[in-house]
Amino acid sequence: MRQPLVVGNWKMNGTRDSVRQLLDAIVAGVSADSPVAVGVCPPYVFIPQAAQHLSGTPVLLGAQNVADHEAGAYTGEVSASMLKEFDCKLAIVGHSERRSLYGESDALVAARYQQAIDHGLTPLLCIGETLEQREAGETFAVVDSQLDAVLEKAGIQSLSKAVIAYEPVWAIGTGKTATPQQAQEVHAHIRQRIAAQDADIAGQVRILYGGSVNDANAKSLFGMADIDGGLIGGASLKADAFLTIVQSAAETI
Ligand code: 13P
Repeated sequence: MRQPLVVGNWKMNGTRDSVRQLLDAIVAGVSADSPVAVGVCPPYVFIPQAAQHLSGTPVLLGAQNVADHEAGAYTGEVSASMLKEFDCKLAIVGHSERRSLYGESDALVAARYQQAIDHGLTPLLCIGETLEQREAGETFAVVDSQLDAVLEKAGIQSLSKAVIAYEPVWAIGTGKTATPQQAQEVHAHIRQRIAAQDADIAGQVRILYGGSVNDANAKSLFGMADIDGGLIGGASLKADAFLTIVQSAAETI
């Protein structure tokens, strides 16, 4: 039985005040015995504030990325051990915005993932195809190569401490959600590919869906057999919508 996980990726949004308000509402809406694991990934600069705010609550704190090195002359990067000092439990790696807008390669994503694993942060590894790749029939090949790049470095066993997020690039921030069937097809493929190496890990690893999830479509997506929750962008900035999405995940258990 995989516990559903719903994580808000706030991207580059927020002020000190809006972070406080949003966290107040999320904390109030997530009970200690919530059957759904819930997390938020604020921008780095708000992590100390969020760590303080979330202390003693069941809401998990995450970062939107993590450095590919331990420490040193890497201007602009934040290391896994720094994130651990501020109670981070999760770190997104390989988000398509990092891959496409900032040129992050599979090798770089794999190194970031490895750092998260080495320091006991749960990496949320994002994989997914562009519209062009989907239309060319390359969806499975793309997600396979993105996944393989990480597993070749970190090993299949690392997935027992990681989460995968399937985020079709064409569905991110566009309002165009994958249909539950389209998402399920890819999730099942990812799980089968992992099962070919290790059936136990395949059965246990959570595969989240991300891409225009909102309070209206979450339940039908989370109801699919291989969709174990969501990585939520825009809708995670509105407490009501985010908590409805969390509730939708609870209803599919
Ligand atoms: P949206 O939910 O805004 O489409 O963003 C999804 C995403 O990129 C989450 O990481």
